[in-house]
Amino acid sequence: MEVVPLADAGEVAALAADVVEAVVRARPDAVLGLATGSTPLPAYGELIRRHRAGAGPSYDSVRCFTLDEYVGLPPGHPESYRATIARELTDPLGIPPERVHGPDPAPDALPTAGARYEEALAAAGGVDVQVLGIGSDGHLAFNEPGSSLASATRIKTLTDETRRDNARFFGAIDEVPRHVLTQGLGTILRARHLLLLATGAGKAAALAAAVEGPLTASCPASVLQLHPHATVLCDAEAAAGL
Ligand code: GLP
Repeated sequence: MEVVPLADAGEVAALAADVVEAVVRARPDAVLGLATGSTPLPAYGELIRRHRAGAGPSYDSVRCFTLDEYVGLPPGHPESYRATIARELTDPLGIPPERVHGPDPAPDALPTAGARYEEALAAAGGVDVQVLGIGSDGHLAFNEPGSSLASATRIKTLTDETRRDNARFFGAIDEVPRHVLTQGLGTILRARHLLLLATGAGKAAALAAAVEGPLTASCPASVLQLHPHATVLCDAEAAAGL
């Protein structure tokens, strides 16, 4: 694993954008794995800024897979991850919705949603670069502590800690869904390059556990230790426990 300590979130965003752009330049129909949460937003903003300035690569053939999705939100809810990624990245880059794939949370689709998402991912040839954040409890995507290290895309129940963390997007914790669909840890490990971004003091303990602690389901992000090409970009605050 390569850990790159940087000064601040701006440097993390710039370097993350460099990595994603390099992948797209090398392979115009690259498959991008996209995380939501607040951490990647500056990197996505940087990609959009460069694209608008005419300095980015062409995204005409790029395909995207979102990592996870809430279950139980009305279709089109602004905090659904489908809507979030469209607003924060793919629409501004001109990537049409039909090239952005996510786990399908529709009630009648749920029983087969995980398997169908895995099939779509395999049919696309797998993810070239997977952008990741890390939860304050060490979760990866929505794989909460205790998740099987070999897990596939499936339904999970959120912990109270994650629901509290994500309440800021919803206004109140009661509005945060209890269930989600998420890529499994085994799914994430199949991406060819993992790019984990961590910023802020709130991530210091989780990042130290993931990078320097034991490989354990108690810290799902520790699976990065198993991957042959994992890069961690972190700011000084998030690196404080390393
Ligand atoms: C969310 C997402 C994760 C994200 C994490 C951290 O619950 N499912 O993909 O990495 O929590 O979020 P943030 O970057 O907002 O701290």
